[in-house]
Amino acid sequence: MSGRPSFARRATLRRSARLLASFRHEQTDPALFYGGVATDTADLVRDFYRDLTGHGLDGATVLDVGGGPGYFADEFTAAGARYIPVEPDPSEMHAAGLTVPGAVRGSGMALPFRDDAVDICLSSNVAEHVPQPWSMADEMLRVTKTGGLMIFSYTVWLGPFGGHETGPWHYLGGEFAARRYRRKQGREPKNRFGRSLFAVTAAEGVRWAARTGDRARVLAVFPRYHPRWAWWLVRIPGLRELLVSNLVVVVAKR
Ligand SMILES: C[S@@+](CC[C@H](N)C(=O)[O-])C[C@H]1O[C@@H](n2cnc3c(N)ncnc32)[C@H](O)[C@@H]1O
Repeated sequence: MSGRPSFARRATLRRSARLLASFRHEQTDPALFYGGVATDTADLVRDFYRDLTGHGLDGATVLDVGGGPGYFADEFTAAGARYIPVEPDPSEMHAAGLTVPGAVRGSGMALPFRDDAVDICLSSNVAEHVPQPWSMADEMLRVTKTGGLMIFSYTVWLGPFGGHETGPWHYLGGEFAARRYRRKQGREPKNRFGRSLFAVTAAEGVRWAARTGDRARVLAVFPRYHPRWAWWLVRIPGLRELLVSNLVVVVAKR
């Protein structure tokens, strides 16, 4: 691929507004929320895969690390891909009554797959939930075939959604925000800082991409939900931590 990614033309202000509006349904109507995000994610993956290989998703194996119950399954299957979610948490695997044939139980930090196994390895909003996100990124690259695509997207800690349900108090510290949530709600947050929620920075993603060197070619690093004209934010240290919100790192395995 050379030049501007095809996906850039989809990254309009209208799309950003649509996605932002769907975020408030995450807890109350997951089907509505995930439906919109699933379509957008399949478009993202399809565009980069086509830029890279000249082919659509037909026949491609897509490993979705931390795919929960497989919210994205229908979109990828409809596109002709062989979709395999990997998920360590059995209760997440059965959330929303979904069952995806071929779903695998396992952790992104030690993927139960051989080297060079899949055409596309994706993780969406998972890295901030694992204690060693960059080991997970290395694992994802390991299982991706030479010439295949890896897409790693996560919520940046200092962004507006970094604290998840404990935000915006995470700006005063993750532990403080978690304790405050418990005090106010009478229960632990689902995303508990230090256990299932971690402070992952945008700078770390940029550095991981730069480090892949001889293992991968960097295709794009951009804010997932922003319009194209705001993608420059990833290049500004400090500001990117506050405003990028969700960083996507896209690489092709050498
Ligand atoms: C916020 S959900 C993201 C679900 C979906 N990928 C999406 O984009 O909406 C985070 C998921 O990461 C999973 N997860 C947590 N630790 C993980 C690990 N070590 N390896 C893989 N997935 C993990 C959680 O169980 C959960 O299903």
